[in-house]
Amino acid sequence: MKLLVLADIHANWSALSALDESFDACFMVGDIVDYGADPAECIDWVRENATAWVRGNHDHAVAQRVAPLGGSGLRGLAAATRPQHWEVLDTKRLSFLAKMPVQQHVQFDGYTHFLVHATPRDPLDEYLGPDERQWRKRLADIEADYVYVGHTHMPFHLDLGDKQVINPGSIGQPRDGDPRASYVVIEDGRVEFRRFEYDVDAAVQRLRDVGVDGPPFELAEQILRTGGQAFPTPTNEPG
Ligand SMILES: [Fe+2]
Repeated sequence: MKLLVLADIHANWSALSALDESFDACFMVGDIVDYGADPAECIDWVRENATAWVRGNHDHAVAQRVAPLGGSGLRGLAAATRPQHWEVLDTKRLSFLAKMPVQQHVQFDGYTHFLVHATPRDPLDEYLGPDERQWRKRLADIEADYVYVGHTHMPFHLDLGDKQVINPGSIGQPRDGDPRASYVVIEDGRVEFRRFEYDVDAAVQRLRDVGVDGPPFELAEQILRTGGQAFPTPTNEPG
């Protein structure tokens, strides 16, 4: 059985629609929306194709109509795209975001899988990279063979012995220095990180089309074209 794991789509339909991979099941570990121009298409794709999903901090903020803080960096970008999201997302799609579970266990292919966007301690917001010691602490009470997380937009795979902790990276806004969309395939116990190129020009143009401009536009374009190389300190920013 072939499992596809995706995270951090961020309303980038140019990227998600270019995904060309067959699968028996698809897990999506949060952040379908914010930062990009096409939230409706991305939500619909998840509803139609994913087997299981969890809510990201941005899904939560859009669903609960949290006013964006604005300011510089990614907060400024969220502030530039979120009002447009509220214009285009109907009640059904907002309700879907609101009802996404914050974490869940899924049985698939003889294994127990656990999905959470950030960490079990703080499912929406805690920013934790491939720190083995910290992950052992966070997962001490979680029973699972595989744990999938997102939020940092940085792919990693930690083998903790009894558990595999996997961040597939980001489909819509990679920040590990590689602008290609990132995801994971698990088949016959093999964990494989895969990347694909997509039409970044189209994603950038879509941001212009919906009226994103100024510093938020420049930041988005820089991240999309470079894979976030110009973005040195993600720790204090919203994933
Ligand atoms: Fe994110």
